[in-house]
Amino acid sequence: MAQPKERTKSEKIEDIAKRRGFFWISSEIYGGLAGFYDYGHLGSALKRRWESLWRSYFLDEPHTFEIEAAQVMPESVFIASGHLSNFIDPTAKCSKCGAFHRADHIMEDFLKESFEGMTPQQLTEIIRKHNVRCTLCKGPLEDVSVLNMMFPLNVGAGTGAKAYLRPETAQGVYVNFKRAYEHSRKALPFGLAIIGKAFRNEISPRNYIVRMREFTQAELQIFFDHEKIRVHPRFEEVADYTLRLFSVKDRKSKTLTEITCADAVKKLELPQFYVYYLAKIQKFYLEVLKLPPELFRFRELSQEERAFYNKIHWDMELNVESLGGFKEVGGLHYRTDHDLGGHGKVSKENLSVTIDGRNFIPHILELSFGVDRNMYSLMDIGLAEEKERTIIKFPRRVAPYDAGVFPLVNREEMPEKAKELAEALKESGFVIFYDESGSIGRRYRRMDEIGVPASITIDADTIEKEMVTIRDRDSMKQVSVSIKDLPKRLRRFLNGESIGEVGEARR
Ligand code: GAP
Repeated sequence: MAQPKERTKSEKIEDIAKRRGFFWISSEIYGGLAGFYDYGHLGSALKRRWESLWRSYFLDEPHTFEIEAAQVMPESVFIASGHLSNFIDPTAKCSKCGAFHRADHIMEDFLKESFEGMTPQQLTEIIRKHNVRCTLCKGPLEDVSVLNMMFPLNVGAGTGAKAYLRPETAQGVYVNFKRAYEHSRKALPFGLAIIGKAFRNEISPRNYIVRMREFTQAELQIFFDHEKIRVHPRFEEVADYTLRLFSVKDRKSKTLTEITCADAVKKLELPQFYVYYLAKIQKFYLEVLKLPPELFRFRELSQEERAFYNKIHWDMELNVESLGGFKEVGGLHYRTDHDLGGHGKVSKENLSVTIDGRNFIPHILELSFGVDRNMYSLMDIGLAEEKERTIIKFPRRVAPYDAGVFPLVNREEMPEKAKELAEALKESGFVIFYDESGSIGRRYRRMDEIGVPASITIDADTIEKEMVTIRDRDSMKQVSVSIKDLPKRLRRFLNGESIGEVGEARR
């Protein structure tokens, strides 16, 4: 008898995502719409907690604020930004079935190498040389052409005003720079962030929430004086910190360069201002989210691969097994005065600043993160299968819940005591899941599969001695802690201490 086919890792992630409430295709009851996904209660919680952590970590600098801006913006914004003429993807149409494919992606799948940044002519030549065919019907492909990725709209009645859904949150910041700067202390560096939706009419959306047509970005735009790009006032704090860099030169040997920030400035001639933020971002992944270092790297983009507005561009990449290796989850972009310069010209507003008698247009360093891609990567990196359980080892600080609280059995005052404890923990700021149904083993398994780092059990010891048990999701080790000390110890556990450090091992 034929054996059932082993599911791929991405199919397993999709299964948990749908079954448990992380994400699934949007408008599902109508068959779904490609490139659009909805988040359920656990996915929304995971996303919210990642965003809160991002906020508290990246917006902690002086003169740095979060704003909200409209997602629909007039055409002139994108004339000024360059998106109208340059935000294009190479498209290959099948001459047999009429399907459109993103040319570089279809070739990547076919030939297993990257074709990003190639011109339509170059892509057409390679398609002809290797006889790359339509993935749907195996028909021949037409010459590669280009398609603008923005969603156009007509706003209002009649022909209406021509507008677009923003393709990056960044433009919402740039059009507000003048007013926001007026509200501020008029000092540089000055940071403005948006966490919000961006829209791109991707030719081939794929990999669930990794490449969608509507997605969430968390972007911080730092306006600074370009004459000071060679210094950062806090550089000494990171000078000896080692960065994990995969430069264009490293591609041949496929080996990563580990280099201190000081050497990145000296040997790679990267500006201090830029390197300081490379370190800050890497620390977010390795020290705040506590991901294993080998799963993270910065990848340098060549001149052909860089977005049209970037002068220096390294992407943050995570090693995502189900997607075949390192994948981009964000980027650190030195956008120069491209954006404010363009908006100044088209809007005819003066977007320059005057500091110490010098009048200039601030340059922009952009920290850009795709929230959904980070979500998927955390699910992939965390997913582990053991003999009797499936676990998602989410970083403790972003898991959908901090802890589950359970009465061991549904009698002997345990449910009352457990509910009381769950309420007290919520009041202390923890995100708690309370459950009294099913065996304790099943309740633990449920927590493991949705990635809850701690399970707290109320048992006979609680009634007699005011002691509870904390179970660690990853090691399954259990320790005893007094109710009085629980909030403090649970916080220490969530901040990274091992289970053995927060309580007495249970025999
Ligand atoms: N403001 C700069 C900017 O938008 P980008 O590299 O085009 O730069 C930034 O996008 C991040 O947004 C990417 O690193 C990725 O994480 C995320 N992203 C881009 N396109 C996406 C898509 N179609 N679906 C999901 N996330 C996407």
